[in-house]
Amino acid sequence: MKRKVILTIASVLLLGFSAFIFAGCDESGSGGGGGGAPAANNNQGAGAGTSTGSGSVNVGIVLPTKEEPRWLQDEAKFKEVIGTTEYTAEVMFSGGRSDTEKQNVEVLVGKGIDVLIICPHDATAAAAAVDVAKKAGVTVIAYDRLVPETDALDYYVTFDSVSVGEAQAQYLVDQATGTGNPLYLYAGAASDNNAFLFFEGSWNVLQPKIADGTFVIKNSSEAVNLQDKAQLSREEMSKIIGQISTNWDFGIAKTLAEANMTAVSAEDKGHVFALAPNDGTARAIADTFAVNVDSYVITGQDSEIESVQYIIDGKQSMTVFKDTRSLASDAMNMAVSVLKGEAVDATASYNNGMMDVPAKQSPIISVDINNLVSVLIDSGYFSADLFTGLN
Ligand code: BGC
Repeated sequence: MKRKVILTIASVLLLGFSAFIFAGCDESGSGGGGGGAPAANNNQGAGAGTSTGSGSVNVGIVLPTKEEPRWLQDEAKFKEVIGTTEYTAEVMFSGGRSDTEKQNVEVLVGKGIDVLIICPHDATAAAAAVDVAKKAGVTVIAYDRLVPETDALDYYVTFDSVSVGEAQAQYLVDQATGTGNPLYLYAGAASDNNAFLFFEGSWNVLQPKIADGTFVIKNSSEAVNLQDKAQLSREEMSKIIGQISTNWDFGIAKTLAEANMTAVSAEDKGHVFALAPNDGTARAIADTFAVNVDSYVITGQDSEIESVQYIIDGKQSMTVFKDTRSLASDAMNMAVSVLKGEAVDATASYNNGMMDVPAKQSPIISVDINNLVSVLIDSGYFSADLFTGLN
């Protein structure tokens, strides 16, 4: 699938929310995480507030799993933004399963939703779920992850995912001196389009630094085979991701890192560099590296509370801050525009292989110990008392 982003002039719609009721929501089935670093707040109920009956829900929100703190952060931000509109909304979690995801959509359609906001668990399988909504006349907004090869999407709300990968790679480049630095590559789930966008962004920045000898790839023969190519096709990325995918699963990330550590020689376990695709996998890989290498630089993404603590403790080098307040409010703004029959605020467009999907794209911020307090605490995103050792 080809990513095409066309920036247009942002038309900022300031829509007042009046009373959004956050209805009950639940997750069945097993989650996509597990093992390694445990998820925080995992015992939290997925939803809170007024339960709604048939025909009474305006906006349905389907998120992939409660097993990863990232999606609980999004849920919390949805709760914050939907509290003041005149409409009702309900969040459901898919438990890391495509069949549950489709059932959730059917339940929400049965409750009379006019707008569906969906973050797919498995991008390809989600086409069937969004089709159900589309056929029922529901406006479909893809949230964070694109659904490829379907014409059932109306809008896409996302962060600039290529720039997430670029920020991660740039951090590694900025920390590296000399040549021959061991580089370990890890990626997200091949079933998630974002995993390709993140990897594409990272490759853009890393490839010249592999070509000039700054880094030496240690854990992917496919990446080594392709290391002279500045731009990779989807198929080429698939080959690499096939070897280094964590499937967004902490346990798989840990097992993969352990296998890598067993396979390499002592000289590749000195000061090493790791491209970890997100915070959950970063913590799992970092825990493994901590007992195997002399020192490491490792990336992340999402600014999960546990990883912010890891950065404070010197166990993770950086994270990418994706402000879920903006994403949730962008999605809800779109939903409210649709419900009111007003123009929708789209600033970009993504091609999903079948159509150009009008999109709203949010920027990201690279965070390490130097700007952590100003970006994450002073901005009010997290309260300082969630962390120890900040001062
Ligand atoms: C999201 C990341 C998240 C990952 C695993 C991606 O699609 O963009 O923020 O860490 O999925 O859930």
